[in-house]
Amino acid sequence: ANKLGSKKERTLALIKPDVVTKIGDVLELIYSSNLIVTKAKMTNLTSQAGDLYVEHQTKPFFTNLVQFVSSGPVVAMELMGDEAMSIWRRLLGPADPAVARREAPQSVRAQFGTDGIKNVGHGSDSLAAAARELEFFFPTTVGYGPSNTAIYTDC
Ligand code: TYD
Ligand code: MG
Repeated sequence: ANKLGSKKERTLALIKPDVVTKIGDVLELIYSSNLIVTKAKMTNLTSQAGDLYVEHQTKPFFTNLVQFVSSGPVVAMELMGDEAMSIWRRLLGPADPAVARREAPQSVRAQFGTDGIKNVGHGSDSLAAAARELEFFFPTTVGYGPSNTAIYTDC
């Protein structure tokens, strides 16, 4: 925390294929929570989706999950702001939209989710996960220039 007591964080916010057409609604919620979008990209995941969800590799729903996030375009965003990680996860709500509609009716998953798999989005759940997942979508590569000067390419 800085001297104002705030805790600037970065998180990956992933919009899954079920709601890429509702990105505007999601952005409104993001901005009204004082988070800003510092990077964004739309992409189609193929086999790499398994790497993104490596923490769930042994779970029974892993295959379905990987298949679903690879089934159409996703929008990956880097969000920045005070407590960005927990705020984005709170905006998402519980992973199961049925539970979300009971416990957090204003949440994104309550409003736009279908079921446990088609549940709108993903948010990093720790600083380590955020670093890994942001690197997954927005890799920082280091190359070497003419006189051995490092070139950092943010893309
Ligand atoms: P999880 O990390 O538990 O939830 P969250 O997305 O809130 O961090 O689960 C990751 C994804 O795996 C979840 O968004 C949807 C899928 N999933 C299922 O399909 N079935 C399940 O029972 C669980 C727990 C997750
Ligand atoms: Mg998770």
